[in-house]
Amino acid sequence: LTFFLSHLCAATVSPVLGTVAARWKHSLPDLTYDYGALEPHINAEIMQLHHSKHHATYVNNLNVTEEKYQEALAKGDVTAQVSLQPALRFNGGGHINHTIFWTNLSPNGGGEPQGELAAAINRDFGSFQALKDKMSAATVAVQGSGWGWLGFDKESGKLRITACPNQDPLQGTTGLVPLLGIDVWEHAYYLQYKNVRPDYVKAIWNVINWENVSERLQAAKK
Ligand SMILES: [Fe+2]
Repeated sequence: LTFFLSHLCAATVSPVLGTVAARWKHSLPDLTYDYGALEPHINAEIMQLHHSKHHATYVNNLNVTEEKYQEALAKGDVTAQVSLQPALRFNGGGHINHTIFWTNLSPNGGGEPQGELAAAINRDFGSFQALKDKMSAATVAVQGSGWGWLGFDKESGKLRITACPNQDPLQGTTGLVPLLGIDVWEHAYYLQYKNVRPDYVKAIWNVINWENVSERLQAAKK
């Protein structure tokens, strides 16, 4: 009877899991600008590879990992669940981070933040220049691959600058809500800036979409 029930169960459950897995597949978001639109600050070749190859790989591997995780959950296999967590962090973080990054950039970007965001920056860092200096320094200083972040601390209501290694996602790792991320993996700049990461970080301020950063701050405050 137990044998019969377990097989009946498996047969009943697996189509349901199949539906759930299919519904939750992640996909590569489209950019709202052309690959060459951020030139001369970030060239088209970097943007094309970064979006269509690197980000796409995180998305594909996230979907594969989630499928394996569903299987492990269905089997009650906790060991398999635990062993999948580094891949979930890496590929899930890669997808989350890059999805934010593309919207943080714009061919019409640069200049200075306005309104409430500008006021919050002045309050928490002293000036916009001070924010740029502090965030640039934290971002350039990332050892190996990682990201520099401007985040919002919901508890204190303040802006914070920090950095995360690898693809660790800001909110899942620190609790800070991500407002602006700067990708300093070599794939983000090497083809144009070679090993000179500070020049890339200096240039990226010319294409920051402050409207998007403002919208993220508004959403984080709700
Ligand atoms: Fe990247």
